[in-house]
Amino acid sequence: MVRAPFPDEFLWGAATSSHQVEGDNRDCDWWDWEQRAGVIHDGTRSGGAAGWWAGRAEEDLQRAASMGHTAHRLSLEWSRLEPAPGRYDPRALERYGEILEAARGLGLRTMVTLNHFTLPRWAAAGGSWLDGTLPERLGALSARCARVLGDRVDLWATLNEPNVLALMGYAAGQWPPGHRRVDRALRAMTNLLRAHVECYRAVHRERPEAQVGLVLNLPSIEPARSQHALDRAVVFTHDWLFSGVWLWALEHGRLPWPLSLRRPVVPGLAGSFDWLGINYYGKMETRFDPWAADRLFGRHVQESTVRSAFADWGQIHPPGLAAQLRRLATLGAPVYVTENGVFDNEDRLRPRYLLEHVAAVRDVLAEGVDVRGYFHWSLVDNFEWGEGWATHFGLLALDRRTQERTPRRSAEIYAQLCRSRGAALDDLLAGLDAAG
Ligand code: FCB
Repeated sequence: MVRAPFPDEFLWGAATSSHQVEGDNRDCDWWDWEQRAGVIHDGTRSGGAAGWWAGRAEEDLQRAASMGHTAHRLSLEWSRLEPAPGRYDPRALERYGEILEAARGLGLRTMVTLNHFTLPRWAAAGGSWLDGTLPERLGALSARCARVLGDRVDLWATLNEPNVLALMGYAAGQWPPGHRRVDRALRAMTNLLRAHVECYRAVHRERPEAQVGLVLNLPSIEPARSQHALDRAVVFTHDWLFSGVWLWALEHGRLPWPLSLRRPVVPGLAGSFDWLGINYYGKMETRFDPWAADRLFGRHVQESTVRSAFADWGQIHPPGLAAQLRRLATLGAPVYVTENGVFDNEDRLRPRYLLEHVAAVRDVLAEGVDVRGYFHWSLVDNFEWGEGWATHFGLLALDRRTQERTPRRSAEIYAQLCRSRGAALDDLLAGLDAAG
């Protein structure tokens, strides 16, 4: 069968985030969090990370370009750019300017996330996302970044996965600020939505032509027993609270239940996206469990192949990516796969995982869904939040001591895919099948 090709302008790349790769990022909430006993599950800290701030960003971008990538997604570190409220550090902006310049010089398109989870220490001291002034503050910073860096940025993302952040930091207590309160999670969600609007508007004020979007984590949440009414009810609730609320709010420009009972309009929220990004890792197969009141009576069924010591990575399920892309596209904007990957220290699962998810993207493209790019998570092994350094997501393996990079087999496979602009997909899949 002759497959429709990927569009010429389709972006092929990988993604990283500031705190996870830069190193010595000492003035943010995560740095402080990492010093506490027991919160990082392998007992490690971000430390020097992958050395990007000190100069290795350019090297890794060079590696990405030589592997045929045509784009890279990275994030800006608020605590470096605004070390004290209202005091901006011009050297930090300059350093990001250099990194983006290098990326563009290598022929890479740039997608820049304004906030990927971390907050400056001063913002954490003020209540993190419970502080209603934070959205305006991030908006002000975004305007500055758009003004200074905007000529080197192709796509802006306002926030990364505010849905994950609200859950992990405010309801589950596993990430900073460590709250375990549903009311606080709801307040954080509302402020994060407002922050998204502030950033969207700020970037557009500075650069009317900018392409600004939001990135959500949209797992495929499905009933473990498809005909089981209670499994289905639990799935409906989980999906609504994790994903549905955000999509509904973006579509209608209002806050739905449980953020508010009166569905108030959030000024500027309707239409506040020129594109939308999906981070997709897998399927959360869920069954009703009367003992899981703290998880709203739903328990995820994990697949052992991707079970880590601690986090819930669900099950590998490429059709779920296709389904979530179709769902996201109903909001009417172009969509990007802004993250997709698997922690796989031995690189046994990653080659097939990567190719089958790209094949899912091709399927929905053929249906007419406007997917504009695929960013693999991640370019290089990095500090994986609560999992520390235990889970390796990189195309490039990192030896943290020597800072040496070693391309994994999947890096080479992805390089062939990128260089062929997707045309080699079926051959690469057949190659894996033949290898068994
Ligand atoms: C996503 C995060 C990213 C990385 C991957 C594995 O939820 O956006 O920073 O940790 O998971």
